[in-house]
Amino acid sequence: MRKQWDNSVTAASGGARATQADARAGTPAPTLTPALRLRIGNVEIAPATVLAPMAGVTDTVFRRFIRNLGGCGLIMTEFTSADGVLRAKDKKAKRYLHFYEDEHPISAQLFGSDPKVMGDAARMVEDLGFDLVDLNLGCPAKKVVKCNGGSGLLRDLPAIGEIFKAVRAAVKIPFTVKFRAGWNDDNIVCVELAKMAEDCGLCAVALHARTREQGYSGNARWEWIGAVKQAVKIPVVGNGDIRSPEDACAMVSQTGCDAVMIGRTAPSNPWIFRQIQQYCGRVGTAALDCPVERSSDSPYDEPSEADRYEMIRTYFQMLIEEELPDAVGKMKQFASWFTHGVPGGAGLRKAIYESKSAPEILGKVEEFFEERLCGAGASSTSLRAGLAREIP
Ligand SMILES: Cc1cc2nc3c(=O)[nH]c(=O)nc-3n(C[C@H](O)[C@H](O)[C@H](O)COP(=O)(O)O)c2cc1C
Repeated sequence: MRKQWDNSVTAASGGARATQADARAGTPAPTLTPALRLRIGNVEIAPATVLAPMAGVTDTVFRRFIRNLGGCGLIMTEFTSADGVLRAKDKKAKRYLHFYEDEHPISAQLFGSDPKVMGDAARMVEDLGFDLVDLNLGCPAKKVVKCNGGSGLLRDLPAIGEIFKAVRAAVKIPFTVKFRAGWNDDNIVCVELAKMAEDCGLCAVALHARTREQGYSGNARWEWIGAVKQAVKIPVVGNGDIRSPEDACAMVSQTGCDAVMIGRTAPSNPWIFRQIQQYCGRVGTAALDCPVERSSDSPYDEPSEADRYEMIRTYFQMLIEEELPDAVGKMKQFASWFTHGVPGGAGLRKAIYESKSAPEILGKVEEFFEERLCGAGASSTSLRAGLAREIP
């Protein structure tokens, strides 16, 4: 079933470049690009692009996979219960906080409502070697909101203030917050909240420009990001509905935000960060300093079918190597995002869905792409290299 938030898939097809920027009537041609670099406290983020935390998606495998593709300045864990990480027996919460050296700089995202617990969990995150710690004030899930976590806290600014103070006092690493604009349209608190974060010594704020009530429906209202940027001096990260490099630049132009954060587009188009880098190199007045070579006149590379094959294979192999307990589920989920818009993708999705094991899924992917690429007489080097490798 297509989920409500699963609306970024059109960007993956690589064909039509219908962007949020186009969709926003009156959007001026982008002249500003995501910045060269950004400092959050003492941590340098370069380029100023962030992979949004996504539960069930941004585990260590996906984060490293995105890092390896290039162009992403900061990665974040999926949200993790502060209570859970302090409970010795909660292996799942601890797994969420597992990361490798090549993931730096990396931020750990925590949720919870008890200031003391949040402070203790933040200290644990610091001891584990994370570069930053982030507080989640955006999760709309009922079971989180019920315990006053995630976006539930947006209705209680004084309680948020207590958490800010407790975590700030507990750790030396930069402390940030990611929040929605408010509980609903009658309760927009993003500016007030950002000011409070600044006053409490937080080092940056990230706004997903929707209300809790909105869920993932409608458009993100970037004007709220602009309002927050106007209100504080600490860096502001803009988030919501970036589906293309054009969107990323439009968000920076329209809001003045210091960095862009990308969520749902990443699993359907993992090249988005690299494409932003390429696009900025072409259009930007503040172009990124490490331009990536482009193979065509297009402002950024569109992945070829062979690239897509190589990519999905690499990711699946990484999942298998990591021996995650839910590797099969993740492969199915990812294949479904990633093959939307690929001609014949429905057949592959069905075959994958019916598969029982990780090697079987990998086999289906190979079969599908081999037929398409070799059948079409393709002789891409990356394809041949991909086919030649042993599947574990
Ligand atoms: C599957 C999924 C899981 C998410 N999990 C988290 C999370 O753990 N923490 C968080 O702050 N936001 C989470 N989000 C929200 C995203 O970080 C992001 O704010 C949102 O998707 C809007 O950005 P986008 O339009 O680029 O996707 C999640 C979103 C999705 C789709």
